[in-house]
Amino acid sequence: MQHSAGSPVRFRQLGPDDKDVVTQLANDGFHGNSFYMKALGLDARRFQLYWHAFFDLTLADPAAAVFGLERNGELQAAVAVAFDGFPKTSRAARYLWTLCRQLATGAFLRYLRFLRVYERAMKLPAGERRVEARGLWLFVKRDVGQRGLGSHLVKCAVEAVRARGKLLVTGFFDASNRPLEQFYRRLHFTVTPPFPFAGMQAARIELRLARMEVKSDAQGHAA
Ligand SMILES: CC(C)(COP(=O)(O)OP(=O)(O)OC[C@H]1O[C@@H](n2cnc3c(N)ncnc32)[C@H](O)[C@@H]1OP(=O)(O)O)[C@@H](O)C(=O)NCCC(=O)NCCS
Repeated sequence: MQHSAGSPVRFRQLGPDDKDVVTQLANDGFHGNSFYMKALGLDARRFQLYWHAFFDLTLADPAAAVFGLERNGELQAAVAVAFDGFPKTSRAARYLWTLCRQLATGAFLRYLRFLRVYERAMKLPAGERRVEARGLWLFVKRDVGQRGLGSHLVKCAVEAVRARGKLLVTGFFDASNRPLEQFYRRLHFTVTPPFPFAGMQAARIELRLARMEVKSDAQGHAA
């Protein structure tokens, strides 16, 4: 793998102490990304405020996980994943209140509209929701892109959520971005047909996981 050519990368789950560094990385990774700026209705400055509030929420909520890849102690890629029960109601209220105070009213209302349409697009039956790991955001530091970090992180994160008993990994992306679609297909995700989203085209991705095989000693000997 290309990423292993340099010094080794370390995969780990991030915690509240990583908030500043992951916020900065998200700002870098999504810098100038017109799809998400338009979808969420946020300009570059408000997107920064959004990342702060978002990582305040996800790094502290047990029903979410932010995984990262570090090289030489530097965080270079991260993915935020949500599980059933995210966000906890009290945290969600604080999160929305923070955004309401920090974004202008029009931007806040546009963001609420995004959330409603996004939730509708991602909705699953309750049984599937219980085993779902929903990828919220994936990003790689721009100057180390195209070196396999994004793929490696997705593979590590998939194993981490499988270990947590999750059997379905889902996500949402800009369907007009062909390289991104190829990126997910190469990782064995299925991709839905595109659907209209905030005047653009979006699509859902899905990856169904097999349960972890737990071999008892007896089975091991018998095999
Ligand atoms: C998408 C992304 C995570 C890929 O990370 P990466 O480390 O560059 O990916 P890898 O090196 O493992 O794989 C490379 C593949 O990713 C895709 N890719 C690379 N740059 C991309 C970009 N700017 N946008 C979309 N896909 C891209 C291509 O399919 C590429 O394959 P190729 O080398 O054959 O062209 C990274 O480009 C990124 O952070 N993009 C901005 C944020 C974003 O769009 N995130 C995804 C939606 S939440």
